Amino acid sequence: MTPKNPFSRRQFLAATSGAMGAAKLYGQEEATPSERLALQGGPKAVQGAMPKHVRWGEPEREQMNALIDQANMFYWKGPQTTLLIDRFRQTCPLEHVMTCSSGTAALHIAVAAAGIEPGDEVITSPISDIGTVIGTIYQQAVPVFADLGRNTYNLDPEDVAQRITPKTKAIIAVHLAGNPCDMHALKTLADQHNLVLIEDCAQAWGAKFRGKPIGTVGHIGCFSLQAAKHVTSGEGGVVASSDPRFGPLLQRFGDKGMDRLAKGGLFEVFATNYRMSEPQAGFAAAQLTRVEGIAEKRSQLGNRLNAKLAGAPGIEPHQIHADDRSTYWFLMFRLRPEAFKCDRAEFVKALAAEGVPASAGYIPVPLYGNPVFQKHGFFAGRWPVKELGLTTMDYAKVSCPEAEAILKTGVRITIHEGMSEDYVLSLAAAVQKVATHYAV
Ligand SMILES: Cc1ncc(COP(=O)(O)O)c(C=O)c1O
Repeated sequence: MTPKNPFSRRQFLAATSGAMGAAKLYGQEEATPSERLALQGGPKAVQGAMPKHVRWGEPEREQMNALIDQANMFYWKGPQTTLLIDRFRQTCPLEHVMTCSSGTAALHIAVAAAGIEPGDEVITSPISDIGTVIGTIYQQAVPVFADLGRNTYNLDPEDVAQRITPKTKAIIAVHLAGNPCDMHALKTLADQHNLVLIEDCAQAWGAKFRGKPIGTVGHIGCFSLQAAKHVTSGEGGVVASSDPRFGPLLQRFGDKGMDRLAKGGLFEVFATNYRMSEPQAGFAAAQLTRVEGIAEKRSQLGNRLNAKLAGAPGIEPHQIHADDRSTYWFLMFRLRPEAFKCDRAEFVKALAAEGVPASAGYIPVPLYGNPVFQKHGFFAGRWPVKELGLTTMDYAKVSCPEAEAILKTGVRITIHEGMSEDYVLSLAAAVQKVATHYAV
């Protein structure tokens, strides 16, 4: 498969034209094959320190001050929760919104509200946080891992189609690193096979698919407010839907099964406590005033860096559709191993020596490669759905070759909104330098 270049020639030229000036500012000329690596005692390509990442300040302080005057910290009709929901809707205009304790919780609520039954299959990505599938497994359903696009690192709709069986009930589309999945193709599959399409937007705050806010194309959108995400409340999550089948159920599946709009207080469904407290909601509400700025800046910086990487030998940039907005929770490019005289570990070491915040890959193995999957040991070492014959899934036999290759050849670079364009271009110049040095 040949990687598609996500940029037009015009965009590419525009993106790269400022590189020389920026590179000079950070003490880095365009790389030449003879240039000595910092690893070998040469000058560092990135001389400035990584810009500070200031993530909270006055808006959060003010919101916390307001909270102190509250008599009650409970979420239901709480002023902080109400504010968070209002602000969430400005980013992601969905009718039913439930705040919750994590992205994992949001995804569990989504799967439960979707009515996924024991033994049902849920197709998703093998490169994600395990939180993507925890709820599925707790509902006694079966995650089915599909392979990924070579350079999008997102679900490959053709591979998803091959893995649909009569037991398939849902797809969880993970927008990895803030790069939107091909939602047109996935929605078409979902519609054809009557599947619930759940969007895992944990890493994708502010992203847009063909201009539409992430989370609004599928049936249910799930977000994380965990400490490392674009916006945070330390821990937290949001799950939302405008679908009349699922939206009204979200609240009860996050609140021990209790429908707070119904009178009588009897439990009609079974669920755990995933409620978010008012202090968390207040902090998150303040953070959401920043989300558009963060998304726009990360998108610009990431696109700039990515376009520049497209010119480096042996490097396959992150593939972002020209009409989408990726919000780069991180940027990951791939190395073509045959194009280099060194292995990935040495390449990353050389980048680090140049001053690039780089690391090898993302998670160590695809989710199915973890011991708990390989041994089917989800519940005290056992897996009831398998023992009861509701599934024949054998994770030891699952193979997603592209996902495995992505994890072996990916190089991840930190991007954040506190960085300047010049700094990011100096990172690109450093990658150019290292790639040129090691090119065969
Ligand atoms: C893609 C993805 N899905 C789900 C989650 C789970 O979110 P949380 O950590 O808030 O439970 C994460 C968190 O890292 C994530 O990155």
